[in-house]
Amino acid sequence: MDANDWNKRYETDEYIYSKDVNRFVAEFCGDLPVGTMIDVAGGEGRNSVWFAERGWRAENVDFSGVALAKFERFAAEREVAERCHATEASALDFVAAWAPADLGVVAYLQVPDAELRQAIANLVAQLKPGATFFGVWHALENLALGNRGPQDPLVLPTVASLTDILAGLPVEIVDIANHDGHVKTVDGLKPSVTVCALARKL
Ligand SMILES: C[S@@+](CC[C@H](N)C(=O)[O-])C[C@H]1O[C@@H](n2cnc3c(N)ncnc32)[C@H](O)[C@@H]1O
Repeated sequence: MDANDWNKRYETDEYIYSKDVNRFVAEFCGDLPVGTMIDVAGGEGRNSVWFAERGWRAENVDFSGVALAKFERFAAEREVAERCHATEASALDFVAAWAPADLGVVAYLQVPDAELRQAIANLVAQLKPGATFFGVWHALENLALGNRGPQDPLVLPTVASLTDILAGLPVEIVDIANHDGHVKTVDGLKPSVTVCALARKL
């Protein structure tokens, strides 16, 4: 899906990914010391706003201007607009206004491996030494289980593919594993094997 496709999907008053922080982002990043974070492909901003409400400066980088307008409205509604920044750009070559950051988050950027490599490398390059990288995706294993969510195997990473991506970057891998997660569908929340990756920049 390109930026136009995403803009069309976001053109509704509903927050399609909700206004609630992703539970894995909260679990893995909730205890980090407050600083500046970059939320790559942050969409309508459920994660960025959650960080801003905790005192972080949060920059949401997404190529959907419609999503970012919703993010800005959401940040204003929660009275954290001054700690939020929207950057309309591709994950592959964005330059973050608030880099270097203490934390980089990528949540559900389900794109082919070559693009994911480039996006993660670009994000890691804009983190401070010692900063945290956290990513979360629907995993390839969902297809064999008949689970809902993205069905294109090319956009579904695995523990092995993420380990390979991070091994080529200046990071120390802390934890990469599959977890029992969920995917939001028109029929409600359904199970999804969810792969999470936590790393520290060297
Ligand atoms: C599944 S949504 C997840 C949004 C958000 N991270 C969340 O968890 O609510 C995927 C997001 O990736 C963005 N996206 C996809 N490809 C992108 C790219 N190449 N550059 C920037 N954003 C991209 C879309 O616009 C969309 O907002």
